[in-house]
Amino acid sequence: MLGKSELVIMAATSLDGFLAKDDNVDWLNALDMPEGAFDYQAFVSTIDVVVMGRKSYEVTKGFGELYPTKKVVVLSRSLPTVPEEHIKVINIESVKDLQDALGPDKQRVWIQGGGDVFGQLLEADVVDDIMIFIQPVAIGRGQSMFSGLKGELYLELTEHVLHTNGSMMLRYKG
Ligand SMILES: NC(=O)c1ccc[n+]([C@@H]2O[C@H](COP(=O)([O-])OP(=O)(O)OC[C@H]3O[C@@H](n4cnc5c(N)ncnc54)[C@H](OP(=O)(O)O)[C@@H]3O)[C@@H](O)[C@H]2O)c1
Repeated sequence: MLGKSELVIMAATSLDGFLAKDDNVDWLNALDMPEGAFDYQAFVSTIDVVVMGRKSYEVTKGFGELYPTKKVVVLSRSLPTVPEEHIKVINIESVKDLQDALGPDKQRVWIQGGGDVFGQLLEADVVDDIMIFIQPVAIGRGQSMFSGLKGELYLELTEHVLHTNGSMMLRYKG
């Protein structure tokens, strides 16, 4: 929790733990997702705020998926602002900066990524729920899911689901 807000991570990784390769997720889009494996739209409908790092913002923008009906927070030290009016750009030195940006209301916040941001917020111990969809493809190199971690992260598994295409959902308590 951060203030009254619930923070959730939901991400897909390769079998070797990468979120992206050369800053793209073509390998993910090439996979056949089994019917009913995960209702992405239903998940997004539960979200009030999307938080992402500047690199994820640039990739997401390329897909045209900047969640115009939601509050979006982009973390950056290099971008002063972005053109989209519903997006706030912030620099976080401590989680208090993120809490200030979220405000006092009770909200469900999707930490969209990437690994730099995941690592920092997990290390700060403010994430409530972590859902990782491990895909049956190894990509050899790329952006690690936990690149922002300085130390080790020990997690408690709360759920696991094996899908017919060989992908696995692992869910952990933050
Ligand atoms: N497979 C998935 O589910 C999934 C999910 C999310 C992302 N991705 C992919 O992951 C890749 C990006 O991940 P990434 O780990 O390389 O980068 P990222 O976390 O998206 O962005 C890193 C950037 O965020 C900014 N930042 C990080 N911490 C900050 C802080 N405390 N205060 C202010 N700014 C901060 C910095 O931007 P500045 O350099 O501007 O200062 C930093 O360079 C993309 O290719 C994306 O498509 C995949």
